[in-house]
Amino acid sequence: MSVDAPSVDVVAEPAATPAPRCTITRLRVHCFRNYAEATVHFGPGLNVIHGQNAQGKTNLLEAIATLALTRSPRTTSSGDLLRWSEDAALAEADVSRPPAGVTLSVRFQRDPSTARVSRVTAVDAKPRPARAMLGVCPVVLFWPEDLALVRGGPDGRRRFLDVILAQTDQQAVAHMSRYRRVLEQRNALLHQLRVGGGAPDSLNSFTTELAHHGAWLSVARSRLVDALAPLAAQSLHDLSGQRERITLRYAPVHVDSIPDSVDAAERVLLDTLRERGTEEVARGMTLAGPHRDDVAFDLDGRAARGTASQGQQRSIVLACKLAEVRYLQDRAGVAPVILLDDVLSELDPERRGRLLALLAAGAHQVLVTTTEPLTEVAGFKEVLHFTVHGGVVTQDER
Ligand SMILES: Nc1ncnc2c1ncn2[C@@H]1O[C@H](COP(=O)(O)OP(=O)(O)OP(=O)(O)O)[C@@H](O)[C@H]1O
Ligand SMILES: [Mg+2]
Repeated sequence: MSVDAPSVDVVAEPAATPAPRCTITRLRVHCFRNYAEATVHFGPGLNVIHGQNAQGKTNLLEAIATLALTRSPRTTSSGDLLRWSEDAALAEADVSRPPAGVTLSVRFQRDPSTARVSRVTAVDAKPRPARAMLGVCPVVLFWPEDLALVRGGPDGRRRFLDVILAQTDQQAVAHMSRYRRVLEQRNALLHQLRVGGGAPDSLNSFTTELAHHGAWLSVARSRLVDALAPLAAQSLHDLSGQRERITLRYAPVHVDSIPDSVDAAERVLLDTLRERGTEEVARGMTLAGPHRDDVAFDLDGRAARGTASQGQQRSIVLACKLAEVRYLQDRAGVAPVILLDDVLSELDPERRGRLLALLAAGAHQVLVTTTEPLTEVAGFKEVLHFTVHGGVVTQDER
């Protein structure tokens, strides 16, 4: 029986008592992407955001994801978020997270003399470090890029894990950013050494620091994959009723598996980096560490990347996204907000129906964008419809 042809009728079982849900009640964007100024009041259930291409549907979900993650998941350059020819942008949301409510905001400002764009994050109008905002409004974003999770490059799989860690593990966030910084410095030095410049003595201290933060991050990711694996297997069954066994494994490049203790992982990474030092100088780059690690998906013991059909790969992706939802919910104690950008049209009607039914049963707030009117709203009692046209959002009368 194949995963891509669901035939067993599995009805989504509502949780005995659904977890309290996190909801975005109001979103305001100002000079953000193609929006001059817009305020949208969302409902607690399903919110369908309909519009033609290039009207601002993805930009709206991007604003929410930027608030939840403190950075856009779509661009690494904050300047892209500023409405063309503007020097500042704002995204702000009222978030209800029982028993409390909170207002999150991110303001981007371009310095006219340097053209650098800075970011100020605030909670209840008080500037707070970005890490204080992470995890306050847990979101799961599912967009067309995610469909390449199995067959695409490893950076998409690493991002999948890091977005979850960012929302659940403050220490991981700190190690991630320090790892990124030291990796850049170490790569710059390796590049200089390759062309006969640079100070070879500095390499040692960069290597020690890189191994420390790298080991920490790899162990966190590896544990996360172990936690996601059973949730993904369960989700695959819930979505398709199939018996195939999906397994996820964290797959580092320098060792078969990451040791469970950070100290041991650090020693292994340090040894590898020292062994490969000459090769690293010759190539001008760091050759081991979490920036090169991967996740392996197996279906019934075979590498899904090489053997699973397109439909099976899609089912695995969907199962992984649902595993993400379930993991965040377990960790946060609230049902995360679900952002579905243009993916429902990519799923066949049966998978689409099952996904919506599972999300409705979990009592999630769901924001879905679509270019085609969405007629099936399986299981959702509260449904609001919006139309986006040229950066203007209106709620439809129904
Ligand atoms: N910084 C910016 N300033 C002004 N407009 C921008 C900026 N960045 C992107 N845009 C424009 O915003 C428009 C809407 O983009 P968006 O990605 O939200 O479209 P969409 O409604 O999701 O379309 P599709 O259905 O094709 O995915 C595009 O025309 C894009 O060129
Ligand atoms: Mg779009």
